[in-house]
Amino acid sequence: MQNLLNLLLLLFLFALFPLLQALPWRTQGNNLNYFEGSSNLVNLEYHMGPVLASPINLYIIWYGHWNPNHQDIIRDFILSLSPPSPSRPSRRPSVTDWWQTVELYTDQTGLNITGTIRLSDEFHDSSYSQGNYLSRLAIQHVIRNSLTSQNPRPLPLNPYTGLYLVLTSSDVQVQDFCRAVCGFHYFTFPAVVGATVPYAWVGHSGKQCPGICAYPFAQPEGSEAPPPSRIMGAPNGDVGVDGMVSVIAHELAETSSNPLVNAWYAGDDPTAPTEIADLCVGLYGSGGGGGYVGNVYKDYWGNGYNLNGVKGRKFLVQWVWNPVQRRCFGPNALD
Ligand SMILES: *[C@@H]1O[C@H](CO)[C@@H](O)[C@H](O)[C@H]1NC(C)=O
Repeated sequence: MQNLLNLLLLLFLFALFPLLQALPWRTQGNNLNYFEGSSNLVNLEYHMGPVLASPINLYIIWYGHWNPNHQDIIRDFILSLSPPSPSRPSRRPSVTDWWQTVELYTDQTGLNITGTIRLSDEFHDSSYSQGNYLSRLAIQHVIRNSLTSQNPRPLPLNPYTGLYLVLTSSDVQVQDFCRAVCGFHYFTFPAVVGATVPYAWVGHSGKQCPGICAYPFAQPEGSEAPPPSRIMGAPNGDVGVDGMVSVIAHELAETSSNPLVNAWYAGDDPTAPTEIADLCVGLYGSGGGGGYVGNVYKDYWGNGYNLNGVKGRKFLVQWVWNPVQRRCFGPNALD
């Protein structure tokens, strides 16, 4: 019986994969699969544009109503990418180790993606300046508001090394959220924001679609099967936020390797690129694929994780495509 349930779950996840593949963009299915060793099918190419090679100054815009404990989880994840005190590194495999796969991507001058990501400043848009429903373009107006606000103090416009990360709370609806995407990245238009600068948006899916965007911490949405005997526990205690962490990682990796959507991606259609994290959605450990997350760790309470961060934090983060090994990879790989 348990085997049958697993099989049903597996079949369902196969059906879900075209959707998951489309996470950051409305991507067409293009014969990719997510098993390790699929390198012969992957046609990741460099299209001559820039990558984020200078140390990144990250600005978080908290949109809506946020629980401070949840904000701390996300801050600690960002801080774990390049910890401020290198003398006290996180346990391995760490979030820093995970980012080293992203650093393997270079631009045409041979510069690698930076290993330094600073959390430079934060802005709290707790008055929902653009309302409860945001179109894709409205995200740029959220950024503009954060740069021009009188109260609270505005963020700086940093067109050279800035990366703006808009995070929407669980009660905010965003165009395509939960249908085609869990997050996306793009660049701002000078007419709206005043400069061309890369940005990413990620939503809190806790109330709207944890079964899609907080996988594998929730029952896959639309599944007819009764819940499996045990859904994986979220390592920081909030399904929506723990799910967001992996989507944030996904978007930061892709923003860094394809900030102006003309650098690293697979597929022939630049309006629907398959990027370095799209290639590995749903894969968190060795042996993963086809609905199995792969070999990950369990904490003391049995919650799943694969990376360690600052302050003893644990996170579950999807793998990204390694351009040297030509396969999905993370520092918790067994080989
Ligand atoms: C830079 O990228 C090249 C090519 O992938 C790689 O061999 C090298 O190790 C990278 N350097 C760093 C510091 O990651």
